[in-house]
Amino acid sequence: MSERLGTLEELPQDYRDQMVAAGVAPLWPMMRNVLPHGAPRPMTRVGHWSFPAVRPLLLRAGELTPVEKAERRVLVLSDPGRGSGAMQATATIYLGLQLLLPGESAPAHRHTPSAVRIVVEGQGGYTVVDGERLPMEPGDLVLTPGGEWHDHGHDGDKPVIWLDALDLPLFVQLEGSYAIEGDLQAQRNRPDASQVEYSAAGLAPSRRPGRGTRRYPMMRYPWAATEAALRQMAAFGEGIAELDYINPETGEDVLPALGFTAMMLKADQVEAPPLRSCSSAFHVIAGSGRSEIDGQVIDWGPKDTFTAPVFARIRHEAESEALLVRIHDRPLQEKLGYYEERAR
Ligand SMILES: [Fe+2]
Repeated sequence: MSERLGTLEELPQDYRDQMVAAGVAPLWPMMRNVLPHGAPRPMTRVGHWSFPAVRPLLLRAGELTPVEKAERRVLVLSDPGRGSGAMQATATIYLGLQLLLPGESAPAHRHTPSAVRIVVEGQGGYTVVDGERLPMEPGDLVLTPGGEWHDHGHDGDKPVIWLDALDLPLFVQLEGSYAIEGDLQAQRNRPDASQVEYSAAGLAPSRRPGRGTRRYPMMRYPWAATEAALRQMAAFGEGIAELDYINPETGEDVLPALGFTAMMLKADQVEAPPLRSCSSAFHVIAGSGRSEIDGQVIDWGPKDTFTAPVFARIRHEAESEALLVRIHDRPLQEKLGYYEERAR
């Protein structure tokens, strides 16, 4: 195996011209770009979005652009490796901070990419998915899976802000991303499935022959339940407390491509995970600390978001007790059969 492959410049100009005319190109000068040795070379760079820095910009968007002119009033968190305006935070994860003001609604639509909302601040917001009204309390995780009708509304009296996480970059790459508009949905007059069918871990509606289950039976994961579970695990488990968000009927990740993992670090606790082949975004629900990612130090506080490229060397250290949600593309990589963890 040669360390150095031939370059384009080593080829005669007339041959290069003839290749261009014929619409072909030699692989060998480009091969290491797409098949580097040993590990991928990500374009993604470590990103950090301080909520105190972004929040005033988002509120100003509320003054400058009425929701009717925006449909979704969102500031996109662009990967520093791809530059300002990039519609992605990592290769597969799109992140945006969305603002809904009291009395506003965001019209119904459905689209091929799947989304998750993690509520950052405010009370009284809600999302309607397929007729089910999902309250949005701070820290709640709300699914709007691909193909499901969804709209947002706000009955409270202060701004509501949430973090959107979508597998949009993947669908753009597939040339499969599109949306269909619709009317605001009629809402079923009952609490959401997390309060009715799946209110206790380990219990699901009784199976009956011939009665199937919905593909996405539970679309809201209330933060109060997640935090209580994390605290129990932190009190009695070993190492860091981590819980995956799962579909309560199948036990699989909540969405086909993206996965979500709640994490709790006690004050001064250090977490140095193995090098993972998936990219990650960390959203801080509460607490503060410092993370070193591929040599870059990030001092984070409540409601901040930061990202790590594939195979990043990560070390978190909590300053105070910290609660985070890690967004990652491990489900997609597992489906493709290549998810990998390497020892540090
Ligand atoms: Fe949407």
